[in-house]
Amino acid sequence: MIIAIDGPAASGKGTLGKRLAAYYGFRHLDSGLLYRAVAKAVLDAGKPIDDRAAAIAAAKLLDPAHLDENALKSDDIGKAASVVAPIPEVRAALVTFQRTFAASKPGAVIDGRDIGTVIAPNAEVKIFVTATPQERARRRVLELKGRGDPVDPAAVLADIVKRDERDTNRAEAPLKAASDAHLLDTTHLDIDAAVRAAIDIVEATRAGRGRG
Ligand code: C5P
Repeated sequence: MIIAIDGPAASGKGTLGKRLAAYYGFRHLDSGLLYRAVAKAVLDAGKPIDDRAAAIAAAKLLDPAHLDENALKSDDIGKAASVVAPIPEVRAALVTFQRTFAASKPGAVIDGRDIGTVIAPNAEVKIFVTATPQERARRRVLELKGRGDPVDPAAVLADIVKRDERDTNRAEAPLKAASDAHLLDTTHLDIDAAVRAAIDIVEATRAGRGRG
Protein backbone atom coordinates (compact mmCIF):
# COMPACT_ATOMS: atom_id res chain seq x y z
CA MET A 1 0.00 0.00 0.00
CA ILE A 2 1.16 3.54 -0.77
CA ILE A 3 0.10 6.51 1.35
CA ALA A 4 0.89 9.83 -0.37
CA ILE A 5 0.95 12.93 1.82
CA ASP A 6 1.32 16.29 0.15
CA GLY A 7 1.07 19.81 1.48
CA PRO A 8 2.79 23.16 1.88
CA ALA A 9 5.86 24.01 3.95
CA ALA A 10 5.54 23.44 7.69
CA SER A 11 2.07 21.91 7.39
CA GLY A 12 3.11 19.03 9.65
CA LYS A 13 3.10 16.44 6.86
CA GLY A 14 6.54 15.12 7.84
CA THR A 15 5.54 14.35 11.42
CA LEU A 16 2.25 12.95 10.21
CA GLY A 17 4.06 10.74 7.69
CA LYS A 18 6.44 9.40 10.32
CA ARG A 19 3.63 8.62 12.73
CA LEU A 20 1.48 6.93 10.07
CA ALA A 21 4.41 4.82 8.91
CA ALA A 22 5.14 3.71 12.49
CA TYR A 23 1.46 2.89 13.05
CA TYR A 24 1.19 0.70 9.95
CA GLY A 25 4.74 -0.69 10.00
CA PHE A 26 5.48 0.94 6.62
CA ARG A 27 8.67 2.65 5.42
CA HIS A 28 8.66 6.44 5.41
CA LEU A 29 10.30 8.82 2.94
CA ASP A 30 10.41 12.58 3.43
CA SER A 31 10.92 13.51 -0.23
CA GLY A 32 11.74 17.12 0.69
CA LEU A 33 15.08 15.84 1.96
CA LEU A 34 16.07 14.92 -1.61
CA TYR A 35 15.58 18.49 -2.88
CA ARG A 36 17.23 19.84 0.26
CA ALA A 37 20.25 17.58 -0.32
CA VAL A 38 20.58 18.81 -3.92
CA ALA A 39 20.46 22.43 -2.72
CA LYS A 40 23.04 21.78 -0.01
CA ALA A 41 25.36 20.09 -2.49
CA VAL A 42 25.19 23.15 -4.77
CA LEU A 43 25.97 25.50 -1.89
CA ASP A 44 28.70 23.23 -0.50
CA ALA A 45 30.35 23.28 -3.94
CA GLY A 46 30.52 27.08 -3.63
CA LYS A 47 28.04 27.65 -6.47
CA PRO A 48 25.16 30.14 -6.42
CA ILE A 49 21.82 28.47 -5.73
CA ASP A 50 20.43 29.52 -9.12
CA ASP A 51 23.22 27.70 -11.01
CA ARG A 52 21.05 25.25 -12.99
CA ALA A 53 23.90 23.14 -14.31
CA ALA A 54 25.31 22.69 -10.80
CA ALA A 55 21.88 21.70 -9.48
CA ILE A 56 21.33 19.15 -12.26
CA ALA A 57 24.80 17.67 -11.73
CA ALA A 58 24.19 17.47 -7.96
CA ALA A 59 20.83 15.73 -8.46
CA LYS A 60 22.39 13.15 -10.78
CA LEU A 61 25.19 12.45 -8.28
CA LEU A 62 22.95 12.28 -5.21
CA ASP A 63 22.92 9.09 -3.18
CA PRO A 64 19.38 9.28 -1.76
CA ALA A 65 19.91 6.30 0.50
CA HIS A 66 22.39 8.22 2.66
CA LEU A 67 20.99 11.61 3.62
CA ASP A 68 21.92 13.43 6.81
CA GLU A 69 18.53 14.69 7.95
CA ASN A 70 19.99 16.87 10.73
CA ALA A 71 22.20 18.78 8.31
CA LEU A 72 19.29 19.38 5.91
CA LYS A 73 16.46 20.63 8.12
CA SER A 74 17.27 24.35 8.40
CA ASP A 75 14.94 26.99 6.97
CA ASP A 76 17.73 28.30 4.76
CA ILE A 77 18.21 24.93 3.11
CA GLY A 78 14.42 24.63 2.73
CA LYS A 79 14.32 27.93 0.91
CA ALA A 80 17.27 26.92 -1.29
CA ALA A 81 15.53 23.60 -2.04
CA SER A 82 12.53 25.46 -3.45
CA VAL A 83 14.89 27.19 -5.92
CA VAL A 84 16.35 23.96 -7.35
CA ALA A 85 13.06 22.00 -7.18
CA PRO A 86 11.40 23.63 -10.25
CA ILE A 87 14.20 22.43 -12.57
CA PRO A 88 12.76 19.53 -14.62
CA GLU A 89 16.10 17.68 -14.88
CA VAL A 90 16.53 17.84 -11.11
CA ARG A 91 13.08 16.33 -10.58
CA ALA A 92 13.67 13.71 -13.26
CA ALA A 93 16.89 12.56 -11.57
CA LEU A 94 14.97 11.89 -8.34
CA VAL A 95 11.92 10.07 -9.72
CA THR A 96 13.20 6.50 -9.93
CA PHE A 97 14.38 6.43 -6.33
CA GLN A 98 11.01 7.70 -5.12
CA ARG A 99 8.98 5.27 -7.25
CA THR A 100 11.11 2.34 -6.15
CA PHE A 101 10.67 3.42 -2.55
CA ALA A 102 6.92 3.71 -3.08
CA ALA A 103 6.83 0.06 -4.08
CA SER A 104 8.36 -1.06 -0.72
CA LYS A 105 6.63 -3.98 0.99
CA PRO A 106 4.49 -4.05 3.02
CA GLY A 107 3.90 -0.39 2.25
CA ALA A 108 5.29 3.12 2.08
CA VAL A 109 4.35 6.55 3.29
CA ILE A 110 5.89 9.36 1.24
CA ASP A 111 5.41 13.02 1.93
CA GLY A 112 6.15 15.96 -0.35
CA ARG A 113 4.49 18.23 -2.89
CA ASP A 114 3.84 15.99 -5.91
CA ILE A 115 3.55 12.49 -4.47
CA GLY A 116 -0.15 12.01 -5.18
CA THR A 117 0.01 13.76 -8.55
CA VAL A 118 3.33 12.74 -10.15
CA ILE A 119 5.35 10.20 -8.14
CA ALA A 120 2.57 7.83 -7.12
CA PRO A 121 -0.66 8.77 -8.89
CA ASN A 122 -1.93 5.25 -8.15
CA ALA A 123 -1.42 5.57 -4.38
CA GLU A 124 -4.30 3.90 -2.54
CA VAL A 125 -4.51 6.78 -0.07
CA LYS A 126 -3.76 10.43 -0.80
CA ILE A 127 -3.90 13.08 1.87
CA PHE A 128 -3.40 16.78 1.23
CA VAL A 129 -2.47 18.48 4.50
CA THR A 130 -3.11 22.17 4.92
CA ALA A 131 -3.07 24.79 7.66
CA THR A 132 -3.19 28.56 7.42
CA PRO A 133 0.19 30.25 6.81
CA GLN A 134 -0.17 31.99 10.19
CA GLU A 135 -0.63 28.69 12.02
CA ARG A 136 2.25 27.07 10.14
CA ALA A 137 4.48 30.03 11.00
CA ARG A 138 3.41 29.80 14.64
CA ARG A 139 4.42 26.12 14.77
CA ARG A 140 7.74 26.81 13.06
CA VAL A 141 8.54 29.62 15.51
CA LEU A 142 7.87 27.28 18.44
CA GLU A 143 10.11 24.64 16.87
CA LEU A 144 12.96 27.09 16.29
CA LYS A 145 12.63 28.48 19.83
CA GLY A 146 12.67 24.92 21.17
CA ARG A 147 16.00 24.40 19.44
CA GLY A 148 17.33 27.61 20.95
CA ASP A 149 17.67 29.23 17.52
CA PRO A 150 17.15 32.98 17.08
CA VAL A 151 13.65 33.67 15.74
CA ASP A 152 12.04 36.54 13.86
CA PRO A 153 8.34 35.57 13.62
CA ALA A 154 7.59 38.03 10.81
CA ALA A 155 10.47 36.66 8.75
CA VAL A 156 9.32 33.07 9.36
CA LEU A 157 5.84 33.93 8.05
CA ALA A 158 7.25 35.80 5.06
CA ASP A 159 9.47 32.81 4.18
CA ILE A 160 6.54 30.40 4.37
CA VAL A 161 4.40 32.58 2.11
CA LYS A 162 7.25 32.95 -0.38
CA ARG A 163 7.97 29.21 -0.44
CA ASP A 164 4.23 28.41 -0.94
CA GLU A 165 4.19 30.83 -3.83
CA ARG A 166 7.22 29.28 -5.51
CA ASP A 167 5.99 25.72 -4.99
CA THR A 168 2.46 26.45 -6.18
CA ASN A 169 3.24 28.53 -9.24
CA ARG A 170 6.04 26.54 -10.83
CA ALA A 171 5.35 24.79 -14.14
CA GLU A 172 6.82 21.41 -13.19
CA ALA A 173 5.00 19.29 -10.57
CA PRO A 174 3.47 22.22 -8.69
CA LEU A 175 2.10 21.89 -5.18
CA LYS A 176 -1.54 20.94 -5.59
CA ALA A 177 -3.99 18.42 -4.25
CA ALA A 178 -4.66 15.42 -6.50
CA SER A 179 -8.31 15.35 -7.55
CA ASP A 180 -8.77 12.18 -5.47
CA ALA A 181 -6.91 13.43 -2.37
CA HIS A 182 -8.54 13.80 1.03
CA LEU A 183 -8.08 17.30 2.39
CA LEU A 184 -6.89 17.44 5.98
CA ASP A 185 -6.90 20.94 7.46
CA THR A 186 -4.83 20.82 10.65
CA THR A 187 -5.20 24.51 11.55
CA HIS A 188 -7.22 23.60 14.63
CA LEU A 189 -5.76 20.14 15.29
CA ASP A 190 -2.77 19.18 17.40
CA ILE A 191 -0.50 16.45 16.05
CA ASP A 192 -2.30 13.61 17.87
CA ALA A 193 -5.66 14.72 16.49
CA ALA A 194 -4.16 15.08 13.01
CA VAL A 195 -2.71 11.54 13.20
CA ARG A 196 -6.09 10.16 14.31
CA ALA A 197 -7.83 11.96 11.44
CA ALA A 198 -5.27 10.57 8.96
CA ILE A 199 -5.69 7.02 10.31
CA ASP A 200 -9.46 7.40 9.93
CA ILE A 201 -8.92 8.35 6.29
CA VAL A 202 -6.67 5.33 5.69
CA GLU A 203 -9.09 2.98 7.43
CA ALA A 204 -12.08 4.35 5.53
CA THR A 205 -10.24 3.77 2.29
CA ARG A 206 -9.16 0.26 3.31
CA ALA A 207 -12.71 -0.60 4.26
CA GLY A 208 -13.76 0.48 0.80
CA ARG A 209 -16.00 3.16 2.15
CA GLY A 210 -14.74 5.48 -0.54
CA ARG A 211 -13.17 8.86 -0.24
CA GLY A 212 -14.32 11.97 1.45
O1 C5P B 1 8.99 19.49 2.49
P1 C5P B 1 10.24 20.36 2.59
O2 C5P B 1 10.00 21.66 3.26
O3 C5P B 1 11.39 19.61 3.18
O4 C5P B 1 10.65 20.65 1.07
C1 C5P B 1 11.65 21.57 0.72
C2 C5P B 1 11.39 22.06 -0.70
O5 C5P B 1 11.62 20.98 -1.62
C3 C5P B 1 9.95 22.50 -0.97
O6 C5P B 1 9.74 23.86 -0.67
C4 C5P B 1 9.79 22.21 -2.46
O7 C5P B 1 10.26 23.28 -3.25
C5 C5P B 1 10.69 21.03 -2.68
N1 C5P B 1 9.95 19.76 -2.77
C6 C5P B 1 9.39 19.44 -3.99
N2 C5P B 1 8.75 18.24 -4.16
C7 C5P B 1 8.65 17.38 -3.15
C8 C5P B 1 9.19 17.71 -1.87
C9 C5P B 1 9.83 18.93 -1.72
O8 C5P B 1 9.45 20.21 -4.94
N3 C5P B 1 8.04 16.20 -3.36
